[in-house]
Parts: sequence; structure tokens; C-alpha cells
Amino acid sequence: MMATMRATAAGKDGVEFIELPIPEPEEGEVRVAIKRASVNAGEQKVIDGDFVGRFLRSASAPLVLGWDFAGKVDAVGKGVYGIDRGARVWGHLPFSPDTDQGTFSEYIVIKRSEIGELPDGVSDDVAAAAPTVAMTALQSLRDHGQLGEGRHALIIGAAGGIGSVGVGISKRLGGKVTAVCSAKDVDRVRGLGADEVLDRRETNPFGNGRSYDVIFDTPAAHSFGHVTGSLVRGGTYVTTLPSLGLFPGMVRGLLTGKRCRFVQVASRRADLELVAGWLDDGLEVPIDSTFPISELQAALDRQQDRDRAGRVVVDVAGGWV
Ligand SMILES: NC(=O)c1ccc[n+]([C@@H]2O[C@H](COP(=O)([O-])OP(=O)(O)OC[C@H]3O[C@@H](n4cnc5c(N)ncnc54)[C@H](OP(=O)(O)O)[C@@H]3O)[C@@H](O)[C@H]2O)c1
Repeated sequence: MMATMRATAAGKDGVEFIELPIPEPEEGEVRVAIKRASVNAGEQKVIDGDFVGRFLRSASAPLVLGWDFAGKVDAVGKGVYGIDRGARVWGHLPFSPDTDQGTFSEYIVIKRSEIGELPDGVSDDVAAAAPTVAMTALQSLRDHGQLGEGRHALIIGAAGGIGSVGVGISKRLGGKVTAVCSAKDVDRVRGLGADEVLDRRETNPFGNGRSYDVIFDTPAAHSFGHVTGSLVRGGTYVTTLPSLGLFPGMVRGLLTGKRCRFVQVASRRADLELVAGWLDDGLEVPIDSTFPISELQAALDRQQDRDRAGRVVVDVAGGWV
């Protein structure tokens, strides 16, 4: 008889609890026993059938959601070396229409190149909260924005999942950070290490004569055309969502010596291991709450709350009823 695992799926009337076959790792893959997972903005986009949601996960049923995880290697496929059963690992599943598994279940299989090992000093909760938001921030700021020593980043949505870890990552890359958030979050964001924090309803960060090397628009609330006057020559605007204005922005960027970029996050071993070291060294990923998997619907609902202050973590290993 085929061995099965406990899993969840998004159904018409909310979260359902189901059984699925335990996946077998193929060549180059490992199987991970999930300990903790976390909720991203993407889950609701898939549940709602948003246009963007169709690119984040396969539309095939059952909709087992969840990309982020911390767990233990449970089995190793052919051709995988240097990692053993029992190793503590973290990462995220690909945001791709080919992804048909989810981390709100007991096991996943994933390529070795898409996971990183965890230092003892990083808890499962922090490791599960961090992968997507930290990889998105790192790849936006360092790879697209070329943020480095002495360069200045403007981070929009600085109290959000990506923005708040983005503040700490910018400082570790040697940058200066001006952070933009709502009034309720100003003190919290200052505590994350921002050099300057602007209340988004009091201060317009654009059109005031100031310019930045990188403008990181985490909620994709603006457009390249709107912010281009606030970029230095050679500066970069990075957004998290594709839009109709993106391609014209890229062309306009070519003509003006400024760059317009869309980040597409990837779970990469080297980046995970870099950030794991920073987490071990105190890089903050604020956690709002932790829910047992038996209350996954409440965790998904919490992600939508305006007063949420950090990431929503799900206890998968210990949270079944
Ligand atoms: N392209 C990729 O690879 C990728 C990867 C991961 C996530 N994403 C996307 O990135 C987006 C952000 O993700 P997240 O996890 O950081 O979400 P989040 O935790 O909900 O944070 C979004 C932040 O943006 C702020 N905000 C919302 N509307 C704003 C506006 N009009 N002006 C200024 N600030 C605004 C919100 O704060 P207040 O409204 O309280 O001020 C909130 O703090 C999501 O759409 C997600 O799907 C893309």
C-alpha cells in the first residue's frame, strides 16, 4: 500500500484536510519533512484565482498551498551529495505554474540547489518566516539594484514582509536606507535599522528634489514613470509585480540611463546560506503570529489583516489535531 501524508488544500469553502501520497525524491532532489511553513501574499492570489496567481502555482487540484518552509531532510535522491538525512534546511518552492505541491503538508520534494542548511542559532520559526521575503529583498537590492557601500535605497512598504527584512539586508550590503511606511509602523521600522523613516501619508518621497540609487517598490504601488525623477543617473527602480507599464519603463530607462526592473524570486542555495549567516548574526524577520496547521484558515485570514506586524508562521509538524 502507498504511504500517505497529511496535507491541506484550498477548497471552495476554505481549507480542507486531505491525505496525499508521500512524494519520492528524483535525481538531484531531497525530500523534506516540514516543521514550519509561513504565509505569503501569493496564497490568497491563488485562492482568489487572480491573474498573477496563475503564474505562482499549478491550477491543478488539490491546491496544496505554501511555498516557504523550514524542516529536516528526510530522504535523498540519486546524485545528491554533501547533505544527509536529518540536516536542518530551509528554502521555498518555486513560484511557478509547474509547482503542484505545497509546504502546508507533511513532506515536499525539492532540488538540492534550492535549499540551504541552517545554523543551530536560527530557529525553525525564523527560518520558515524568511525564505521568500529575504530572497526577494536580496535579489532585488543586490542583483537588480546593485546596492552596495555608500549607495542609497528608498524602500516603499518597509513594514511589510519584504520591506522589513529589506531594511536589514540593505544595511548588510553597506547601503543607506530611507524607509517609507504607515505611521503605526514608523518606530518598528526605525528599530530594524533604517537611517530615515517617512510616514507615507504625511510625506511624498518623490518630487522633492531628493534622489536615490535604488527605489524598491515592494507593494508595486508606483510606476517607473512616476519615480524616475527621484533616481540618480544609473539608478534602478525595482518592482515586485509585472504590469503593463513595465516594458515601456524598460525602454524609457534605456533612453534616460536609468533602469526599470521586475524581480522574480528564486530559492538559491548560495543566497540561502548567505542570509542564514545574517539571520544567525541578528538579521531581523519580524514574526506576527504562529498558528497550528489545524488552524491554517485563521493563518491565511491573519495574513490579510491591516494590523498584522510581521510574518505569519504555521506549525506544520506539531500542529495537526
Ligand atoms: N516578484 C516576486 O518574486 C515576488 C516575491 C514575493 C512577493 N511578491 C509580491 O510582493 C508584494 C509584497 O509582498 P509582502 O510579503 O512584502 O507583502 P506585505 O507583507 O503585505 O507588505 C506590503 C507592505 O506594503 C505597504 N503598502 C501597501 N500599499 C501601499 C501603497 N499604496 N503605498 C505604500 N505602501 C503600501 C503595506 O503597508 P501599509 O499599507 O500598512 O502602509 C505593507 O506593509 C506582494 O504583492 C507579493 O505578491 C513578489
